[in-house]
Amino acid sequence: MKSPLEEVTHTDNVKLSDDGRSVVIIDQTLLPNRLEYIALTTREEMFEAIAMLRVRGAPAIGICAAYCAYCLALQAPRDSFDDFYDHWVEDCRYLNGSRPTAVNLSWALNRMLDAAEDHRDMPVEAVLSALKRECLAIHSEDMEMCRKISEYGLSLLHDGDGVLTHCNAGPLATSRYGTGQGPLFLAKERGMDIRVFADETRPLLQGARLTSFELYNAGVDVTLICDSMASIVMKNGWVQCCMVGCDRVAANGDTANKIGTSGVAILAKHYGIPFYVLGPTSTIDMSCTTGEDINIELRDGEEIRSRFYSEPVALPDVKCYNPAFDVTDNSLISAIITEKGICRPPYSESLKKLFEDQPL
Ligand code: MRU
Repeated sequence: MKSPLEEVTHTDNVKLSDDGRSVVIIDQTLLPNRLEYIALTTREEMFEAIAMLRVRGAPAIGICAAYCAYCLALQAPRDSFDDFYDHWVEDCRYLNGSRPTAVNLSWALNRMLDAAEDHRDMPVEAVLSALKRECLAIHSEDMEMCRKISEYGLSLLHDGDGVLTHCNAGPLATSRYGTGQGPLFLAKERGMDIRVFADETRPLLQGARLTSFELYNAGVDVTLICDSMASIVMKNGWVQCCMVGCDRVAANGDTANKIGTSGVAILAKHYGIPFYVLGPTSTIDMSCTTGEDINIELRDGEEIRSRFYSEPVALPDVKCYNPAFDVTDNSLISAIITEKGICRPPYSESLKKLFEDQPL
């Protein structure tokens, strides 16, 4: 029987259905009240699930998109490679429009497109087998990356530390341990005593609904706070470092993550607390020179006015500004932790070394 910790860190939140023709995901919008799996078969269902955050978190979006691309490939015409490819590329472009900020979406779809291209001289059946191998590889590589990121992250923690988190970068957002919250699960596994303060993360409450749910179920000491309380817990001396995930890291280290992350980093700087960003190299986008080049998703104002409340909390016509992410300036980031190691400033040099496979 699985321990509560294994239950959290070893459950697939994204997988192929038993018949291999649909993608099965945990509908994260229903958590923590209901744990329900849904199957995505049509491209419209897949688009909607990503856009509405039924599946969310940069790595999980990438894994899901790869499985979706494979299932859509099974539905494409098979007469010739060109017929197959033209139809399927259109499906992949459509899926790629579901969310703009997390680079893992286009990264995973491009890997699938490359895998098909590499087999263009083979029968379509062989292309489909290659695509199946590729989406399974993207998934299993993510498990491996999360494990390594968690190990590196853990090396920065000490017994008795308090850690502040923002949004959800745990198993639900990835596979297995997670990135931003990975070291916290690993610390629990190793018997370390770590206290976590989880920001609720307005407006969609990923911290309250998902992070505190995962950590609590795994037996980690977690305290849920409103975003506006981060300053007081830091001032009280309860936080020794902040650990967050990332959706897109620019070549200079500027990092897009859930809205509110940059505010946490500014507070951490004020109180002299290290601020760590954790994510796989697939989240680093060297084609973005700085954070200015990152497209920040703007979402429906209804998420601020009324979602999650039994009654609306604002007038129906009040203007809303609802960016889903913000960019944390590289000067506020103490380290960027990847599966290849820990990058320190200046990031324009350390991130480049990652891609040149040079020692950090
Ligand atoms: O809008 P979301 O819930 O997809 O935003 C998720 C985040 O901002 C996470 O911190 C990020 O994707 C890293 S997940 C390992």
